[in-house]
Amino acid sequence: MACLDKQSDDLVFFVNGKKVIERKADPEELLLYYLRKELRLSGTKYGCGVGGCGACTVMLSTYDPVVKKIRHHPANSCLLPICSLHGAAVTTVEGVGSIKNRINPIQERLAKCHGSQCGFCTPGMVMSIYALLRNHVKPSMEQIISALDGNLCRCTGYRPIIDSYASFAKEQTCCQLRGTGQCCLDQEELGCSSSAGVRIRSGLCNPAEFLPVDPTQEFIFPPELMRMAQEQQGKTLIFCSKRTTWISPSSLKELLELKAKYPKAPLVVGNTSLGLNKNDCDAYHPIVLHPLRIPEMQVVSITDDGIVIGATCCLAQLRDILIETIPKLPEEKTKIYQALLQQLRTLAGEQIRSMASLGGHVVSRGSAWDLNPILCAGKSVLNLASDGGKRQIFLDDQFLAGHKHADIEPKEVIVSVLIPYSTKDEFISAFKQAERQKNAFSIVNSGLRVLFSPGTDTIVDLSILYGGIGSTTLSARKSCEKLIGRQWNDQMLSEACKLVLEEISLPPSASGGKVEYRRTLLVSFLFRFYLEVLHGLHQMYPFRYSELSQDKMSALGVLQSGVPQGVQLYQDVDPGQSPQDPVGRPIMHQSGIKHATGEAVFIDDIRPVDRELSLAVVTSIKAHAKIKSIDISEALQVPGVINVVTAKDVPGKNGNDEEEAFAKDKVICVGQIICAVVAETLTQAKHGAKKVKIVYEDLQPVLTIKDAIEHNSYITEERKLEKGDIEKGFKSADKIIEGELHMGGQEHFYLETNSVLVIPRMEDKEMDVYVSTQHATDVQKLVASALNLQSNKIMCHTKRVGGAFGGKITKPSFFAVIAAVAANKTGRPVRFALERNMDMLITGGRHPFFGKYKVGFMKDGRIIAADFQCYINGGCTKDESELVIEYIVLKVDNAYNIPNLRVRGHACKTNLPSNTAFRGFGFPQAGLFVETCIVAVATKTGLPHEKVREKNMYRGVNRTAFKEEFDAENLWKCWKECLDKSDYHSRNAKVEEFNRKNYWKKKGIAIIPMKFSVGFNATYFHQAGALVHIYLDGSVLVTHGGIELGQGIHTKMLQIASRELKIPLSYIHFCETSSTTVPNGKYTAGSVGTEINARAVQDACQILWKRLDPIRRKNPKGKWEDWISEAHKKSISLSATGYFKGYVTNMDWETKKGHAFPYFLYGAACSEVEIDCLTGAHKNIRTDIVMDASFSINPAIDIGQIEGAFIQGVGLYTLEEIYFSPEGEQLTLGPDTYKIPAVCDIPEQFHVYLVPNSCNSIAIYSSKGMGEAGFFLGSSVFFAIRDAVAAARKERGLPLDFTLISPLTAERIRMACDDIFTKMIPKDKPGTYKPWAIDIS
Ligand SMILES: Cc1cc2nc3c(=O)[nH]c(=O)nc-3n(C[C@H](O)[C@H](O)[C@H](O)COP(=O)(O)OP(=O)(O)OC[C@H]3O[C@@H](n4cnc5c(N)ncnc54)[C@H](O)[C@@H]3O)c2cc1C
Ligand code: FES
Ligand code: FES
Repeated sequence: MACLDKQSDDLVFFVNGKKVIERKADPEELLLYYLRKELRLSGTKYGCGVGGCGACTVMLSTYDPVVKKIRHHPANSCLLPICSLHGAAVTTVEGVGSIKNRINPIQERLAKCHGSQCGFCTPGMVMSIYALLRNHVKPSMEQIISALDGNLCRCTGYRPIIDSYASFAKEQTCCQLRGTGQCCLDQEELGCSSSAGVRIRSGLCNPAEFLPVDPTQEFIFPPELMRMAQEQQGKTLIFCSKRTTWISPSSLKELLELKAKYPKAPLVVGNTSLGLNKNDCDAYHPIVLHPLRIPEMQVVSITDDGIVIGATCCLAQLRDILIETIPKLPEEKTKIYQALLQQLRTLAGEQIRSMASLGGHVVSRGSAWDLNPILCAGKSVLNLASDGGKRQIFLDDQFLAGHKHADIEPKEVIVSVLIPYSTKDEFISAFKQAERQKNAFSIVNSGLRVLFSPGTDTIVDLSILYGGIGSTTLSARKSCEKLIGRQWNDQMLSEACKLVLEEISLPPSASGGKVEYRRTLLVSFLFRFYLEVLHGLHQMYPFRYSELSQDKMSALGVLQSGVPQGVQLYQDVDPGQSPQDPVGRPIMHQSGIKHATGEAVFIDDIRPVDRELSLAVVTSIKAHAKIKSIDISEALQVPGVINVVTAKDVPGKNGNDEEEAFAKDKVICVGQIICAVVAETLTQAKHGAKKVKIVYEDLQPVLTIKDAIEHNSYITEERKLEKGDIEKGFKSADKIIEGELHMGGQEHFYLETNSVLVIPRMEDKEMDVYVSTQHATDVQKLVASALNLQSNKIMCHTKRVGGAFGGKITKPSFFAVIAAVAANKTGRPVRFALERNMDMLITGGRHPFFGKYKVGFMKDGRIIAADFQCYINGGCTKDESELVIEYIVLKVDNAYNIPNLRVRGHACKTNLPSNTAFRGFGFPQAGLFVETCIVAVATKTGLPHEKVREKNMYRGVNRTAFKEEFDAENLWKCWKECLDKSDYHSRNAKVEEFNRKNYWKKKGIAIIPMKFSVGFNATYFHQAGALVHIYLDGSVLVTHGGIELGQGIHTKMLQIASRELKIPLSYIHFCETSSTTVPNGKYTAGSVGTEINARAVQDACQILWKRLDPIRRKNPKGKWEDWISEAHKKSISLSATGYFKGYVTNMDWETKKGHAFPYFLYGAACSEVEIDCLTGAHKNIRTDIVMDASFSINPAIDIGQIEGAFIQGVGLYTLEEIYFSPEGEQLTLGPDTYKIPAVCDIPEQFHVYLVPNSCNSIAIYSSKGMGEAGFFLGSSVFFAIRDAVAAARKERGLPLDFTLISPLTAERIRMACDDIFTKMIPKDKPGTYKPWAIDIS
């Protein structure tokens, strides 16, 4: 498209106080990529590209020359077209503060409160709070929490992030849990003594050290932009590229003329709807209109009829206007506003709310958009304009359905929306149920309104609208018509439910699945509305209408999490310990400040190197097929494409013995990489990838565990353990029960997607590989073998990884091979950073699990025999599946001594992406399985669950099923502490009391014990190396084979080196993990990465310390620097390698005996929840974790690991659901469809207690590895929900021996609370339709 006979304007905006002039602004360019690639500001991160994670958050400041006001707001730069920024000031994390210049208190507090682990989400967190504080110097805690709605963190569990920002709040929060009348935030009063005489501390940072807030230090809005805004008020702005023209008219008249001329041109405001389709070729628009400077479209006025809101007002502005206006109006006039406000509180994150416009929301009419049902029910009016004049139409169901007669014309625009006042006899309600409480699209939403004849309950008008069911909001118009004239009573309700279910039909194979649940929500919402209205009628006419019964009252109100608070208690260091010795103290993460300032460099932040190419892959669209042909000819024609790389280009081995890097003749899952396109830019490479044509010949796929069992499709031999005499055990049991557990998988969802940069060197075919991996040695080995080189030519470098959780052990090596083969073929550096959807498509995750049990037990709850069959869905290759099933078999006993036990484990081979390691490595599945058996026994015996647990828990010195000896003393210590600290028994009684009074809401509580085995079942997995150099100025460089994944490994290494060399931390530095310094490192995983590398670092330091011995003895009062200088003069080597051979472990599957794990650690967790039986929503009220961490080297890091793992576990067990199509294609490929826990999911009270006086003679300094153990404790939430569901079922007279599938999502909770509404809905017979998704577990 030519530039409309006019030259393109210069795009002018400011970034961090500096003026940017873009003479050739491309309307298709988005700010995130512009910042990172053009301005080299890599602090702003790519996490998803669809507005769902917040890693890309920046602050936008704009000036309105009409009202002369500056507005600051957060925004997702991944959706922001740069052309929308003309005249705006952008602040990125680099502008907030930097180590070089000045750190902002927001950054400093986040780092000091340990709010960053891997640090990838951290700049986004900083920016969200920065934008909040620019608008509110002293925000409320609610504002702080709401500001973080749109930011995801996969590592921390959010508690420390909230803690750090609580320090900015106007009200200081205190948990009151110390019970002493003292504030837990009061650092002076922290020390207290446990009964055993050790000092217990709480709090992990010292607020007294925080920098004061100084708003005068912030950038002012550039006066030049104010002038520009004034001067350009009447000027049309045009920015054009070869493909697209962006026009920003300055008046409504001009906009309407343009719309008449280009009726197909969209109006881009927030780009949050249009921008989501950017990968869709049909979404290309040659002309784009940007109406943001048109005063009529920004209007806000209070009229006689209602509030008029300009169409370009964003949703955050709408919310603020409503918050301000509602208290000023009589309550009866505000019902629609209250309903809107309720939806706005949970709609998206603050970034999207600040970008998305009301007009865009109304026009884009997304199926699950939350405001349209209420706007429609409330009879809102759209004020339209075109070059032909103005008119008004109702935002009614006909408009929402897009019927031509009721729709806006192509040449029309919405200028504003009139949202009318409600009246006295009118009731309006809004409902929403989503997969997560906040920042999640609705599964179903609803807007309902009834108007009564004055003073009566006779229906005069009724509107019932639902979102999330069809392609747009649907109305139950006919049902409503039939109900007019009826009284508001039970008969009307049952008629209404029947009518609605007939009118709003959802086919069994509907996209999005959850069909029966969605049908249930239709009537559940209707019921809640019915009760709300009855309640309202009573309030209006108390003598005419009676109040709802207590039972019914409990159906009202939605569950909303409050402001989370936490307490962390841990053993203090010995008072005699040197103040310089950092071991045992909550030292800040070595990269904490760099994370918070965005200066920490991740792979894709490395500056582009000379002649660098980008890479995009072509992946299989078939689950199982022969590759008949690959045609790359068209791809090679795409401008910028340099080459296409296939299996034929691999000079050496194409992958490893188990898995191909490029599929050659056959594909074995959807998402398998077939070839790669390299081009000058990523856009060109992606374009090229789309042009590659592959012809397949279909083969029969195996997708589910059931299929695999039928086809005898297994990855490995059965793994089996037996203890006692199982047949005898069953014979002597009072009762035997049998059952099953199905459990879904889990996406790693590390915030940094897989990334690799390969740079060929000039000589000897050497290559540098910069890679985000947990296993640099494997990368080196695979790349070398693919290129037919010796490993000594491949240098792997990993500075830090933006989250991994097991997902970056095996997979990155293949990505590195792809990039290295491309670099080898082209002779140029190649960057391969996966986009989120590709990362999720290609890589597998946690193994879905299916378990069958037969359990024999006595009347007193003692289990005396159990026969377990465990299956995992391994996917298409072996990967880590063999080890995972072994661990499931070895760990399935958890904390329980089952005298006669048989466990058999099978890893199924299917045509799904290969599943791999994931935090906990099989234990989260095995643990849930055995706890399910415990619950089943408790249900059958009628005994309290905790009593059955206690009856079966290991006691004293004991042996596992594989004959490994251990002492269960600390298991009991944790259990008893947890019962005590959580006040379990009295809270359990309160839960029961609550449940007696509330029919529609139930509470549940559960306490779970844990025996967790740390490490691997072979010695060589635990070996580690280190290299420590002392330089002549006394500074020390520590290197080791472990990789920083966010778990703080380097921080602990520096603490260890500091203790061993007796020098302050400030002397010691860590640079990167590299195959050139420490070779042959094992993968950093299994909770032991830190302690084994610590041993190696300790070894190296002790060697050096010993070498300095004679010098120190000679000059005992000398300084460190003197000793080093003297040592150098004496030709003493100041460099040493350290080595740790590994813990002696083994497992013999023939004899079924072994010392499979170096040591065990113990813990317990108690969680309480509340569920909403009508919708399936739940809220996490409180969790108490007690952990046997022995002597923690760094309590801040260890508690961070426990909390982060726990929340990830909560995600696995209650939230995260992966869907696969019947053809084996993963359907959940981003944060929009796959929900990891957000701030709203953490318990309102979250307490962690590390038991004191515990020893571990095996690990360094008597520590224990905390990386994974907390994960399984997330199952306490699962069982608390189960407890609540059981209470509901009991009251409804339903069987109590029910089994729940994990994750326990809102859908599963609702459907388990079977009631009159679930019974009403039509059921579809399985096998009579093709479902949208299949169950692969
Ligand atoms: C991560 C994310 C989370 C979200 N979560 C939720 C959620 O929880 N609940 C929810 O309800 N919604 C949610 N949304 C959707 C959001 O509400 C809509 O995308 C948004 O309201 C659209 O507004 P916009 O200004 O960005 O529209 P744009 O994308 O700029 O435009 C959308 C369409 O509207 C047209 N248009 C815009 N203004 C006008 C006008 N004045 N006259 C005529 N046509 C116009 C444009 O031509 C275009 O076709 C989410 C979106 C994202 C990206
Ligand atoms: S990258 Fe923008 S929100 Fe995820
Ligand atoms: S620290 Fe938040 S994602 Fe890693």
